[in-house]
Amino acid sequence: MEKLLIRGGKTLTGEINCSGAKNAALPVIAASLLTDDDVVLQNLPHLQDITTMFELINSMGAEISLDENMFFKIKTSNIKSFEARYELVKTMRASILVLGSMTAKFGKAKIALPGGCAIGTRPVNYHLDALKKLGADISLTNGYIEAKAKRLKGADIKLGGITVTGTENIMMAATLAEGITTLTNVAKEPEVVDLANFLNGMGAKIYGAGTDSIRIEGVASLKGCQYEIPPDRIEAGTYLIAAALTNGSIKINKIGPDRLTTVIQKLEECGAEIKSSNNSIDLKMTNEIISPVNITTGPFPGFPTDMQAQFTVLNAIASGKSFVNEEVFENRFMHVQELNRMGADILTNGSAATINGVKHLQGAQVMATDLRASACLILAGLVAKGETKVDRIYHIDRGYERIEEKLSNLGADIQRIPN
Ligand code: EPU
Repeated sequence: MEKLLIRGGKTLTGEINCSGAKNAALPVIAASLLTDDDVVLQNLPHLQDITTMFELINSMGAEISLDENMFFKIKTSNIKSFEARYELVKTMRASILVLGSMTAKFGKAKIALPGGCAIGTRPVNYHLDALKKLGADISLTNGYIEAKAKRLKGADIKLGGITVTGTENIMMAATLAEGITTLTNVAKEPEVVDLANFLNGMGAKIYGAGTDSIRIEGVASLKGCQYEIPPDRIEAGTYLIAAALTNGSIKINKIGPDRLTTVIQKLEECGAEIKSSNNSIDLKMTNEIISPVNITTGPFPGFPTDMQAQFTVLNAIASGKSFVNEEVFENRFMHVQELNRMGADILTNGSAATINGVKHLQGAQVMATDLRASACLILAGLVAKGETKVDRIYHIDRGYERIEEKLSNLGADIQRIPN
């Protein structure tokens, strides 16, 4: 199994381009099933999760091709299967995103029920309850969710809890429902707004995405469209931290600061100087000393849970004590044990971590447990003394495009090794 070998201690400086956002691209690909016309996508990131989503819709009959401009064309006029098999769903929980679009467009969907994962139990009850309120008949049989509906009917729905993919699933389903749907208690993440923009480009009538309530006026059909996947705020945030940790400076192009307000605020509290334009973010450390910052994760506009593990590395070598509260997932501290093996002093108690900053981390052989935990261990390796080998890096390939190439270009000593 491949590993990443990192020799720590290099200062990262330079410029990179932000890639397209995985969590914007996945729902958009699922939403392409809502039309018989072709959909063309630009700026899709080259990631394992995107390949898995393509495999999934391809197994249903969708055809995917790539043109000379690197635009992906998705042709969905020949869908013949309405099933998302367990073999695919177990490798990527976001497969659940085809539930809303399949049920709305074809009146049926059979999706393997995703299990728990390394960061929490992650049930999908809010998705299913809301889909039932749109009139779908839902049953759970042999580990599969089966949804059936003639035509979904608009309804007033308060989601059982704030859920990103749940909001996206129901928003997709409601676009083709008869009548008006009002969704409340919704996620306000930028990727929800991105999906609404894409769907509106297909002819949907969605208002209020990004606010507390989303109104969807159902339409009879949707048409194809061309769409550019917006930038990945979590990728950008991870590289900003890489530069801050190594006392470096970085310019990230193709992303503005709006999607990263809370992350930028916290980086400034750590001692970073940040300047941004509409289409770039510059970070420079003003001081070798990192100030500890307290973090509580929450739904957007709160601090993103997908940046918690990476920020924990900054706190691990900060000049004092800090507290991190993980309020979104119940088990998202798997990286802490590995950081402690690298010399960090972190104590967890349920959803809280107390971090006593240490002078430096030491390189070690460590194991990634999920996508953001693997990013955290790579960051730790960049700043640790000596060599770090990160195992199970298939997690990182799910969500970070060419990470070792981007980091090498910034001056990191990092390479992929066979074993
Ligand atoms: N939840 C329920 N029932 C549901 C749905 C969610 O109890 O029906 C709970 C979850 O267990 C969790 C909380 O609600 O405790 C929030 O989960 P949410 O549904 O918002 O997460 P998600 O939609 O499955 C997306 C991202 C995650 C990101 C979270 C939170 C995608 C494809 N995934 O997951 O991204 O952490 O929102 O922002 O958009 C990642 O990229 O590494 C990643 C895990």
